[in-house]
Amino acid sequence: MTKIPAHIAIIMDGNGRWAKEKGKMRYEGHLAGVKKVRDIAIHASDMGVRYLTLYAFSTENWKRPQEEVDYIMSLPKIFFASYLKELMDNDIKVTMLGKMEKIPKVASEIFKEAIAKTKDNKGMVLSFAVNYGSHDEIVTACKEYAQDVKNGRSNDLTVDEFSRYLYTRDMPDVDLMIRTSHELRLSNFLLWQIAYSELIFLDRYWPDMQDSDLDDCINEYNMRQRRFGGLDEG
Ligand code: IPE
Ligand code: IPE
Ligand code: MG
Repeated sequence: MTKIPAHIAIIMDGNGRWAKEKGKMRYEGHLAGVKKVRDIAIHASDMGVRYLTLYAFSTENWKRPQEEVDYIMSLPKIFFASYLKELMDNDIKVTMLGKMEKIPKVASEIFKEAIAKTKDNKGMVLSFAVNYGSHDEIVTACKEYAQDVKNGRSNDLTVDEFSRYLYTRDMPDVDLMIRTSHELRLSNFLLWQIAYSELIFLDRYWPDMQDSDLDDCINEYNMRQRRFGGLDEG
């Protein structure tokens, strides 16, 4: 029987190269990527994935030209205007990982609305990592913990307790991490949470990712032997 990973994380990379290869502008690649978020989210939900976490904008992506950053920040509005109803129909709950403060209001307000509207949904949790970086997440967690200790908390922190300081506090660790467009790196995404994830790097650019690619990844995941430091079963 096929095991469905409870938590899949995807680094949605390659929008720019997809556009370039087609003689289009970079923003057209980002727009094509938005439709893909809908397709893959609905398919993952149909497959029974419990948590799908998508890297949408990193703490390093602010280095890009302002025009591109502004365009990317306008995409949540397009995404939720087009697909919120479908997310609701599929009982999908939207959440966000990342530092909200720095995200422009055009994006953060739209996210807040989508989070509020879907908060009672019981199906897949669809999380968007926006202004997210693992280094920032871990340092922020350390500061919060230090503050708690100052306020009287004991300093015998465990791994599980530390996890509760991260944005992913309500989620299990990532089972399967997928990156599109064949860059063999993690670009500061969920470094703590992927300690024992299976990693898959796809050749396709994100806007070209197909539902069948996700199926292939899940099949590949089923071929892997996860040992978590122990020995093979049986
Ligand atoms: C991923 O596509 C989207 C974001 C990082 C926001 P890219 O824009 O990184 O596309 P490439 O890597 O330049 O092709
Ligand atoms: C990672 O992609 C971030 C997102 C997909 C949002 P990048 O395109 O920013 O990563 P690098 O710069 O190639 O490492
Ligand atoms: Mg990229």
